[in-house]
Amino acid sequence: MTSSLNKITILRPDDWHLHLRDGITLSTVLPYTAEHFRRAIVMPNLTPPVTTTEQAIGYRERILAALPKGSDFEPLMTCYMTDDTDPDEVEKGFREDVFTAVKLYPAQATTNSEFGVSAWDNIRNVLARMEKIGMPLLIHGEEADPEIDIFDREAVFIDRVLKNWIRDYPELKIVLEHITTKDGADFVRHAGKNIGATVTPHHLVINRNDILAGGIRPHLYCLPIAKREIHRIALREAVTSGDRSFFLGTDSAPHPISAKETDCGCAGIFNVANAIEVYAGVFDEMDALDHFEAFTSRNGPDFYGLESNSGTMTLERKTQRIMGDIEIPGENDSIRPFLSGEELGWSITKD
Ligand code: NCD
Ligand code: ZN
Repeated sequence: MTSSLNKITILRPDDWHLHLRDGITLSTVLPYTAEHFRRAIVMPNLTPPVTTTEQAIGYRERILAALPKGSDFEPLMTCYMTDDTDPDEVEKGFREDVFTAVKLYPAQATTNSEFGVSAWDNIRNVLARMEKIGMPLLIHGEEADPEIDIFDREAVFIDRVLKNWIRDYPELKIVLEHITTKDGADFVRHAGKNIGATVTPHHLVINRNDILAGGIRPHLYCLPIAKREIHRIALREAVTSGDRSFFLGTDSAPHPISAKETDCGCAGIFNVANAIEVYAGVFDEMDALDHFEAFTSRNGPDFYGLESNSGTMTLERKTQRIMGDIEIPGENDSIRPFLSGEELGWSITKD
């Protein structure tokens, strides 16, 4: 990594948490990822979800077919955990280099999570097998119990569930995905090296006032929902601290505007087109650009036991305005990028 006050060159980054969807949405959004990221962990929450090796191979082929010509982007596939997940299928997919990890959604926690896990005892044998073979478990860490306040669901999940799993499966590699709280950041900081976390760009720059004060902003609604300012500050401190447990995961989750601006709007923010520059702005504001490359390009591969990328990307302190809506061809609908129309202080000038 080289950096000066106005310019920084980092190893090519990866995105360790990404929703690409399928069909026309896939081909609409994929170029924005492939332009800047060498690899991404692709979330399996399609309908139906990706639960078998065969489905993952098919999905991977559709992603590769939708790539812009000449792209060397590599999708890393995940298996959607259900109550019936078979440890043998998971192990087979892992050994055959189809599945990089298993994704756990508590049933009803978020978009397309109705097939998720409804009782933790149902997956004990899968967790034990994953611990044994060194396969990472990626967790949407929110307790889905409707009695629990939506702003407390992450902290309650950590307290009620995750703490027990750390005790019962001490070697299991776990990524607590898209953490949004001080509780999450503290938990990961104090846990062993086998516990990591992704942090999204949006949770580093918005808090719940941005969603709800002075008018409701559906395009800032995602899950886990952004929390109070103290949590945003804790996340910023965690990712810029140099702690190797935190790495880049955009959780970019595109929905058509018609599904966001409606009576019961979908959760998800499409942020991938400018994610790196948003992160760079945060590290710059925190005076921590010396830790930027580790977060974007080294900590993730290290956690997954993969090589970091070769090749570099250069960012410069140069103002840019974030693009407007992206049309979905043939759908008479569009996707609104995160912070659309706003200015950013950093731009990618070479990759
Ligand atoms: C994701 C989606 O739309 O698939 N939405 C989101 O708000 N992040 C699902 C998820 O990761 O929770
Ligand atoms: Zn997600």
